[in-house]
Amino acid sequence: MKKVLCILVALVMMFAMVAACNGDSGSNNDAGNNNDAGSNNDGGGSSSGGLVGISMPTQSSERWIKDGNTLKDILEDRGYDVDLQYAEDDIPTQLQQIEAMLTRGAKVLVIAAIDASTLVPVLDAAGRDGVYIIAYDRLLVDTDAVSFYATFDNVKVGELQAQSLVDGMKQHRGDGPWNVELFAGSPDDTNSFFFFSGAMNVLQPLIDDGQITIVSGQDTQDAVGTLRWDGAVAQTRMDTILAANYADGTPLHGVLSPYDGLSRGIISALSAFGFQPGTDDWPVVTGQDAEAASISLIRTGEQFSTILKDTRDLARVAADMVDAILDGRQPEINDTSTYNNGVKIVPSYLLVPHTVDVTNYQRLVIDSGYLDEADIH
Ligand code: BGC
Repeated sequence: MKKVLCILVALVMMFAMVAACNGDSGSNNDAGNNNDAGSNNDGGGSSSGGLVGISMPTQSSERWIKDGNTLKDILEDRGYDVDLQYAEDDIPTQLQQIEAMLTRGAKVLVIAAIDASTLVPVLDAAGRDGVYIIAYDRLLVDTDAVSFYATFDNVKVGELQAQSLVDGMKQHRGDGPWNVELFAGSPDDTNSFFFFSGAMNVLQPLIDDGQITIVSGQDTQDAVGTLRWDGAVAQTRMDTILAANYADGTPLHGVLSPYDGLSRGIISALSAFGFQPGTDDWPVVTGQDAEAASISLIRTGEQFSTILKDTRDLARVAADMVDAILDGRQPEINDTSTYNNGVKIVPSYLLVPHTVDVTNYQRLVIDSGYLDEADIH
């Protein structure tokens, strides 16, 4: 009887300790405001788990599916409960999903926003309640509730895209001058601006000295943005540009595209207009994300390049941030100057992007295990 009692007392004490550890990790955490997750956060730590909410924008692009699944697997392996949701590019859905995660008691939210500006009130409230928030790949703007940002060097992404466009035109279309059209990403995603400004770091000097002409004259982010990164929108815009500017036989040498889904829309428009893939007249088209369908087009020569951003690495960086925050440690960061979200500079970890083309896709994309050969048709 005495023995049983002792065991009972020990059990009660154990539960009390676990409850104390989990208890108020939120109430006195200020990582969101002061970036010092380590200093006074007594969060639950990976051993005691806790709920992590992952809010992803859409499953219509394969990268976000990979991001979500990889991050979920890593966090579950480390003992966390995970609520992974996709909002299918619908802003009210993303808001509801985040609110539901908070109601379920999420300690950390990892968010890739559709339109970050729409999340400000819910994120501010979560921050006040002591929930930690990590911006995943896309910056969360206008709130000090965001603690950290896991992403790639987004300016570098744009520079690589533009450099590859120029290299491709040199290779396929001679020394120029070249006629080019520009596409940018969704205006509600800060990444679009970083990609575009990176691209213009390379292209603007060439435009200024006449080596490149933007025949449509559409050369600002406002004019060339593509709402919700929608391939159909890019296709329609390309159709319109071709009809208005190239129907008289003016050659088009290259198209700057910031994302594979847009590239495929652009390529459809080029084909429909009468350009023949595989001929000398076919324009150089860039991309991003190393999607299987675009690796296939790189093989056939319809798309010149893409950018590989290994989502396995990004998921690991974000998972390490979650761990560090909840263990009361400072996550590893390597940039404290670039990502001003309108309220503060968000401490970030930037990964390195890589240009992929027909010469290196086998090594970078397939041999690395990023995609299976069987996925590429
Ligand atoms: C991501 C890109 C992606 C795009 C469209 C951006 O925020 O950084 O990798 O291509 O969204 O999903």
